[in-house]
Amino acid sequence: MQERVAARIRAGYVCITVPICIFNGHGEPQALLSSKRILLIVAGGIAAYKTLELIRRLRERGASVRCILTKGGAQFVTPLSLAALSGDRVYDDLFSLTDEAAMGHIELSRDADLLVVAPATADLMAKMAAGMADDLATTALLATDKPVLIAPAMNVRMWEHAATRANVETLASRGVLRVGPGAGDMACGEFGEGRMAEPAEILGAIESFFRGDVAAVSPSAGAQGKARPLAGRKALVTSGPTHEAIDPVRYIANRSSGKQGHAIARALAGLGAETVLVSGPTGLADPPGISVIHVESAREMLAACQKALPVDVAVCAAAVSDWRMAQEAGQKLKKNGGGPPALALTENPDILRTLGEAGNLRPGLLVGFAAETEKVVEHAKAKRKKKGADWILANDVSPATGTFGGDANVIHLVDDSGVEDWPRMSKEEVARRLAQRIAENISIKD
Ligand code: CTP
Repeated sequence: MQERVAARIRAGYVCITVPICIFNGHGEPQALLSSKRILLIVAGGIAAYKTLELIRRLRERGASVRCILTKGGAQFVTPLSLAALSGDRVYDDLFSLTDEAAMGHIELSRDADLLVVAPATADLMAKMAAGMADDLATTALLATDKPVLIAPAMNVRMWEHAATRANVETLASRGVLRVGPGAGDMACGEFGEGRMAEPAEILGAIESFFRGDVAAVSPSAGAQGKARPLAGRKALVTSGPTHEAIDPVRYIANRSSGKQGHAIARALAGLGAETVLVSGPTGLADPPGISVIHVESAREMLAACQKALPVDVAVCAAAVSDWRMAQEAGQKLKKNGGGPPALALTENPDILRTLGEAGNLRPGLLVGFAAETEKVVEHAKAKRKKKGADWILANDVSPATGTFGGDANVIHLVDDSGVEDWPRMSKEEVARRLAQRIAENISIKD
């Protein structure tokens, strides 16, 4: 411990007495990265040499770094130098039995707080976008349930190519975080965008991520966090279904996937909002940099939402179960030969309406959804009034539309001035468009 502290002092940090607390130039506790586990994937680009410096700086700040070196990466840096700097073995062969015995690729990717790909080559980004898994690096990236930060590095023409642009867009829409690339002279002799971010910038991006400032590393926020119209705002989003227990083994639920709500939370955070996502049970990974509160039932969802108030904007995208058991059975209901049991139900609290009636604590802007199978706009208008929402995003959830569980949505936005019909678009695009509209509305109110 003493040695580590001494090393930090040598590295220019000031040490305050017990309890030990080390600050950097911004007056932030170095604790930010201490005990954070980074899985660093080093791919094949000349910029790979910069990752050696990155590892050193991460370790100085108390993070542990484990490296995966691709075949291409090994052309630029040696496993020995990565191992020496990271103080850990280097993983470089998916099919090596010893590696699999030491740590399988699934564990490797899950045993980290953040995956960092530096340099992220055009080839590796294309494989990530396509979901390929033909070596250890791509397999770990596909298997992970942890946030991923890429630091692209390539020739300017490759960076500007339509294929790379599409891959960058795809990765951003999946919540992959990015730092750089910057512009400048390149090793290939050309000039332009494509230079990998410097180690200090990558370190800054990693620190931003752990500080919860996901917008700073979120490509959807525009050019590296420059467009952050919701910075300083608080947002609340509900997502997914709720499960209402019938007995200890059975529950009432619905087909909501949570994709739309999660995408909205990501988009709001991408525009700089401090976002709380209250999620029912879904199969989705927690979006990075967002405070996610997991709940099961409607009543738990309501309590979590009320705890998050006050907020500038709330978006209720959850498909909350309308009913629950009047009396949840303490033991598993058994077949007693007397026919199926009659399930007596009672109504759940309406979260959207409760937020609309929250008086001083009412969100500045309250947005709901209307899941309808007929008379979509008509019902949405009535719901807006009944629940006291400012906007209702109405969507047709008839089975033929594939909206529930699918990736696309057709929205009719109902507000006090009428109806706005949006074309069919992905749930990610719906989220981005809604977040943008929210940002504009909030800035007009100011
Ligand atoms: N909602 C809520 N709490 C509930 C039910 C719904 O917060 N108990 C919210 C949803 O998140 C959505 C809006 O209310 O934003 C409308 O939900 P929807 O399922 O379309 O309507 P219901 O209120 O359930 O009405 P109905 O089932 O009669 O269509």
